[in-house]
Amino acid sequence: MMADPRRHLLDLDDLDALEIEGLLNSAEGMLEIAGRDVRKTPALRGKTIITLFFENSTRTRVSFEQAGKILGADVINVAASTSSLSKGESLLNTVKTLEAMQIDALVVRHPHSGAPYFIANHTDASVVNAGDGTHAHPTQSLLDLFTVRKHLGDLAGKRIAIVGDILYSRVARSDIIAFQKMGAEVVVSCPNTLLPDEWQPGSILGQQTGFENLEIARNVDEAVEGADVVMALRIQQERQEAGHLPSLREYSDRWGINSRRMAMAHDGALLMHPGPMNEGVEIASDVAHGVQSVIEEQVRSGVAVRMAVLYALCARSRSARNGAGTEN
Ligand code: CP
Repeated sequence: MMADPRRHLLDLDDLDALEIEGLLNSAEGMLEIAGRDVRKTPALRGKTIITLFFENSTRTRVSFEQAGKILGADVINVAASTSSLSKGESLLNTVKTLEAMQIDALVVRHPHSGAPYFIANHTDASVVNAGDGTHAHPTQSLLDLFTVRKHLGDLAGKRIAIVGDILYSRVARSDIIAFQKMGAEVVVSCPNTLLPDEWQPGSILGQQTGFENLEIARNVDEAVEGADVVMALRIQQERQEAGHLPSLREYSDRWGINSRRMAMAHDGALLMHPGPMNEGVEIASDVAHGVQSVIEEQVRSGVAVRMAVLYALCARSRSARNGAGTEN
């Protein structure tokens, strides 16, 4: 799935390390603006951003709204459940309807992988993928990179352990790509039932899998040993209902991140979670709120990173973005 990265942000596949670094550098400036007492700039004044969410969200939707408003844009939130989609209007006609209102950006979350690509092909607005199915969550990965870079500096050579729902998690897929692009070593661990079929514990995956040098740990202790970052992923209740997990208690014992496992990581290792957390399942409460946790900082980083993304995509005029005019 390809898209013009100057017009849309659909996946980090479309960006190289330098482009990612450019967004992270821009987010540094945005973090300073977002931390001011009076945090309002006219950078996107006159622009209209629509958030169109087909799935629930707290962090992503609110931070995009906040990011757009700090930059001076008009932000309109559309929830699929309260829109005319619930009366049977198609996704295409919904997009065309919003497009007719001269919007500049559409921030989309959708349960189907690829839906933001479909939308990007039918609108002149910039499309930002706010999470599509099991495919990608690029701004989550940017905020994760941003948070780690703030604490540990250069990401090259850092060991990132990702523990949890590897098979279904769009965060896992996007984070593996993002951290590897920045030169980090990524190791994953989860129950065999939550690994893609061809991935064998104890192996290193090569390019044919779409990842390079991706280590599949035999167990979670092996994954977190010496890690600079430990990231726990949300275990979704439906995985247990579908027979992927024996019980949440057993999952917590065998794969949950707790103080014993954090003690195996590198000194000063960071504990991350994209949220929302199931405390007591994939992450113990004491470490989730302990000194190594940067989980709340991830949320703060999300506003700055989304400001940088919206600015990069919307600052130019619509005609300039679409290659038919001059810049503002
Ligand atoms: N991390 C994340 O996407 O959280 P929300 O579902 O609350 O947006």
